[in-house]
Amino acid sequence: MSFWRITGWVIIVSSLFLVNSQAATIVGSFHDLVHIDDVHTKNWTSVYNNYGEICVYCHTPHGANENVSVLWNRNLPDSLSYTLYQSSTLSSSPQPPSPVSLLCLSCHDGTIAVDTILNMPNTGVTLGSKHGSMKVPFDTVYDCVACHSGWIRDFSGTFLGTDLSNNHPVSIEYSASDPRLKPLPLANGLKLVDNKVECVSCHDVHNPQYRPFLRIPDTGSALCYTCHNK
Ligand code: HEC
Ligand code: HEC
Ligand code: HEC
Ligand code: HEC
Ligand code: HEC
Repeated sequence: MSFWRITGWVIIVSSLFLVNSQAATIVGSFHDLVHIDDVHTKNWTSVYNNYGEICVYCHTPHGANENVSVLWNRNLPDSLSYTLYQSSTLSSSPQPPSPVSLLCLSCHDGTIAVDTILNMPNTGVTLGSKHGSMKVPFDTVYDCVACHSGWIRDFSGTFLGTDLSNNHPVSIEYSASDPRLKPLPLANGLKLVDNKVECVSCHDVHNPQYRPFLRIPDTGSALCYTCHNK
């Protein structure tokens, strides 16, 4: 191999590692709420309390929500407040979202502001009165869609609201005897929680490598075919 071909490979391989090592972390991702608020402050103004710590928007070492695991630092929405996916061809019956999916919905249904947490970190943060939530339609100028639907980067698709009828069913039993579904255990690192499909079956909340926070790339419906036969 010529010098240039070798150098080319070294650059390609090392930049792959670079992309991987950067992409595999929550830092700077859409789940880094410190970074997101910093972007706003730089361009305009803060849109919610900036606690200066990434994990604290979701986790706390002390005084966590007793109803769920993973030292959760947020209240959970009422599981009975959702309109569920319905269909006559389902083999399992739709259920209200389980706690593990309510973790996600505590931001993504828009009913609780993204910075409303149980325990503030002890960092001397000056708390503002701005509490942006993913609400549609928005109530205050700090609600995300006040700016993020249409004119500045449209994130309206990420606000699921409480009507889940047009989303993939969650908290639904995985009936391994259904011939339309693949036998267990699932391939590709996809996971069930208590034998149910939850948000975290398809999404990895900490890892932006396969956008949007998917456990595997959905190229050619690879994600879907991990569970479905057709
Ligand atoms: C946007 C919310 C969010 C942020 C921010 C966040 N996490 Fe999590 N974390 C979760 C959720 C949701 C789960 C449950 C995931 C599951 O069950 O698959 C979890 C689970 C965990 C777990 C349990 C093991 C696992 O991966 O399932 C650990 C440890 C953890 N997080 C550490 C951290 C640390 C450290 C940070 C800060 C660098 C952080 N998390 C930031 C939402 C978050
Ligand atoms: C982790 C496993 C899993 C993955 C990944 C998955 N599904 Fe599903 N899906 C299920 C289960 C379980 C059901 C409920 C099946 C039942 O009860 O009949 C379901 C139901 C559905 C339904 C409703 C079927 C009906 O009869 O109304 C559709 C449509 C669907 N999935 C499409 C998809 C698509 C598209 C993808 C890829 C983006 C996907 N699924 C990925 C497990 C999965
Ligand atoms: C603390 C609030 C919070 C929690 C909890 C949370 N998210 Fe998010 N999520 C955000 C914010 C903020 C964004 C940035 C984009 C936006 O404004 O919607 C985002 C974006 C996303 C995106 C789009 C990413 C992209 O690349 O476009 C997905 C997918 C997502 N979240 C899934 C989840 C899932 C699944 C869970 C639970 C396992 C979860 N989120 C929990 C706040 C949260
Ligand atoms: C008053 C208008 C306004 C509001 C309200 C607002 N944003 Fe933004 N947002 C902006 C502007 C301006 C930018 C920078 C756009 C650019 O230059 O790309 C931005 C950028 C972002 C980015 C991209 C960050 C990056 O990495 O570049 C995310 C994610 C985001 N906003 C999420 C949110 C969330 C979540 C909320 C609600 C809690 C919110 N925004 C509320 C105006 C707003
Ligand atoms: C069966 C797999 C699966 C399940 C279960 C699932 N998602 Fe997703 N989600 C996806 C895929 C694939 C995409 C990207 C394609 C798309 O936008 O439809 C996505 C996209 C998203 C987005 C970004 C939408 C946008 O327009 O940018 C958010 C936010 C999100 N999911 C949150 C959730 C939450 C919260 C749950 C649980 C209530 C959940 N997802 C359950 C597979 C799933």
